[in-house]
Amino acid sequence: MKFSRITGTGSHLPPKRVTNAQFAEDLAARGIETSDTWIVERTGIHARHFAEPDVASSDLAVLAAREALASAGVQASEIDLIIVATSTPDMVFPSAACLVQQKLGVHGCAAFDVQAVCSGFVYALTVADSMIRTGSANKALVIGAEVFSRILDFNDRTTCVLFGDGAGAVVLEASDTPGILASELHADGRHVDILCVPGHVSGGKALGDPLLKMDGPAVFKLAVGVLEQVARSVLQKAGKTDADIDWLIPHQANIRIMQGTAKKLKLPMDKLIVTVDEHGNTSAASIPLALDAAVRSGKIKRGDTLMLEGVGGGFTWGAVLLDF
Ligand code: UT7
Repeated sequence: MKFSRITGTGSHLPPKRVTNAQFAEDLAARGIETSDTWIVERTGIHARHFAEPDVASSDLAVLAAREALASAGVQASEIDLIIVATSTPDMVFPSAACLVQQKLGVHGCAAFDVQAVCSGFVYALTVADSMIRTGSANKALVIGAEVFSRILDFNDRTTCVLFGDGAGAVVLEASDTPGILASELHADGRHVDILCVPGHVSGGKALGDPLLKMDGPAVFKLAVGVLEQVARSVLQKAGKTDADIDWLIPHQANIRIMQGTAKKLKLPMDKLIVTVDEHGNTSAASIPLALDAAVRSGKIKRGDTLMLEGVGGGFTWGAVLLDF
């Protein structure tokens, strides 16, 4: 029986770091009121990183990918599958994954994007795991990369303070012993309107409104419920219980959602990986960024059991349980 296992992790944050205080000052200059206190109390976010205008998702992705390859001891030429989870690709097409392949200087392997907004990394990891287990791939690069700063409405204080840019990556390789133990993906298209960018390109123009819209409280309410359900279902599939989880790595959107999920899973708060304070919500990049930060800080060690959970626009959600 073939399994898949994460053999390396990497990440990249653009250098420009914007604190809440700096953000509040910028918004105040345009007559929009917010504060460090409001942002910290409601979300747990202290700062986020923004990419420069000439930096695209594939640029961040390739830097994260190189780190993941180095940590796995794998050459780019050995990779036979590249999946990029992103909702902010460089172009309408080709995919960010094809651009990453080009920037890595390799060609020939399958490369495509997955679009599941903030659940994107969990979706991409599940697809890569399935392709490895069925023999379609042996060494995959799975990346989450976003430049959400491009789709933020900086006149809307209810959304613009929440998001940031960045990328995280893993190398997922075929293995005789299980790494990924179980996973599950869901979507409920009845809720397309609560988190969306309702614009599109037509006749050479961006039509509709190409900026992010979110009904925060509606997303919050749905997120708390589905994150507990999907974690329990994945644990059951793997024949495990809450007590088997060493680290919970939820999508980093809001510390209150993350703490609520940990509490429902009866996990102490020190088993929760938190990077939302420094990264903000980086959508599909948030889970691999958090994973890499925790691996590099020495928190997560080989053999630990990790629960990864995504939730976001679509409405989409999912979870992956794995032995690291
Ligand atoms: O990544 C995909 C998943 N996304 C999420 O998980 C996001 C889920 N939602 C959330 O995290 C939260 O709903 C938010 C952080 C977006 C908002 O927190 P909330 O506690 O639900 O606040 P709220 O939307 O109910 O707003 C409370 C008040 C409002 O004022 P009134 O109506 O009570 O007078 C808002 O206008 O806070 C006001 N407000 C702000 N005040 C200062 C909203 N944004 C701001 C702001 N600064 N930036």
